[in-house]
Amino acid sequence: MSAMTYRPLGRCGTKVSTLSLGGWTTFGGSITDDALTRTILHAAFEAGINFFDIADVYARGAAETSMGKALAELPRRHLVISSKCYWPMSEDVNDRGLSRKHIFESVHDSLRRIGTDYLDILFCHRYDAETPVEETVRAMDDLVRQGKVLYWGTSEWTGAQLDSAHEVARTYGAYGPQVEQPQYSLLVREKVESDVRPVLAARGMGMVVWSPLASGLLTGKYDDGVPPDSRLARIDWLRESLLRDEQVTRVKAMRAVADDLRCSRTQLALAWAAAQPGVSSVILGATSVAQLEENLGALAVELTPAATKALDGVFPATS
Ligand SMILES: NC(=O)c1ccc[n+]([C@@H]2O[C@H](COP(=O)([O-])OP(=O)(O)OC[C@H]3O[C@@H](n4cnc5c(N)ncnc54)[C@H](OP(=O)(O)O)[C@@H]3O)[C@@H](O)[C@H]2O)c1
Repeated sequence: MSAMTYRPLGRCGTKVSTLSLGGWTTFGGSITDDALTRTILHAAFEAGINFFDIADVYARGAAETSMGKALAELPRRHLVISSKCYWPMSEDVNDRGLSRKHIFESVHDSLRRIGTDYLDILFCHRYDAETPVEETVRAMDDLVRQGKVLYWGTSEWTGAQLDSAHEVARTYGAYGPQVEQPQYSLLVREKVESDVRPVLAARGMGMVVWSPLASGLLTGKYDDGVPPDSRLARIDWLRESLLRDEQVTRVKAMRAVADDLRCSRTQLALAWAAAQPGVSSVILGATSVAQLEENLGALAVELTPAATKALDGVFPATS
């Protein structure tokens, strides 16, 4: 297996592994066995993954608890741990969003559940149109100054929203967002490439990308229907929004490109994401060590200009 590589989060000193591991729908969710979570996380760490991505809302706190237990057995200083806040954690009117109140309460809950004194990155899990961006930027800056958070980031913000946060940060001499976490894959390209990436480059921000396999669609496992015990079998709304004939046809068309490079479609999709400008890390999801190992094989794939051109033909940048 090829050695892990590390990249900076934009214009900052901290480096993250090119492939990282996240817990959405899996740890504490479809995987309730803490021993299996531990096995997968520790295998990832052994392979050189140093960045682990969580969120308060994943399995309503259970992902933080389950991943936190496994991460506590690894050397904290070698880990980059992120969590997120924004999505409702209860019915309470203030238990959501990016107000100062929720950000502070949420980060304390996350620290307790993960079992750590600080988060390397706290992401604003979406933009909150009901809270002035000044309030959010200044609350994040306070957390950085208190040492509870080393960097803060955003997820699914637009280029204009990122610019506004940086302008506020400049006005107050505050820390601005250092990293954006957008969805980005061969099947979902347009927003990153046309709107977000130019702002990240101009502002010196890193980009860590989610659902690089479109929840598994790009592996080819849904070519002939929905296998039992797969994510799309378990989650109805995701199946209904993702599984469309035209997408499956494209994924099938990608097989010839993967065959030419002697890799799987999974590895090709991940290698493509890692090769795109501005990407600091590609966040993997895995429900077994076998999946993780296949995905780590993406590090060995050398994308040729011909392969990139062929992929652009199958998956246009306007998707
Ligand atoms: N910021 C956000 O709003 C946001 C949103 C979503 C995700 N994320 C982050 O990004 C991370 C990655 O996203 P994702 O989990 O959607 O990534 P993904 O790579 O698109 O999908 C991962 C899923 O695909 C299947 N899979 C992965 N490798 C496979 C393989 N080699 N063979 C067959 N099936 C395979 C597994 O599901 P099954 O085995 O269950 O089929 C796995 O859980 C998340 O864990 C989370 O940390 C962030």
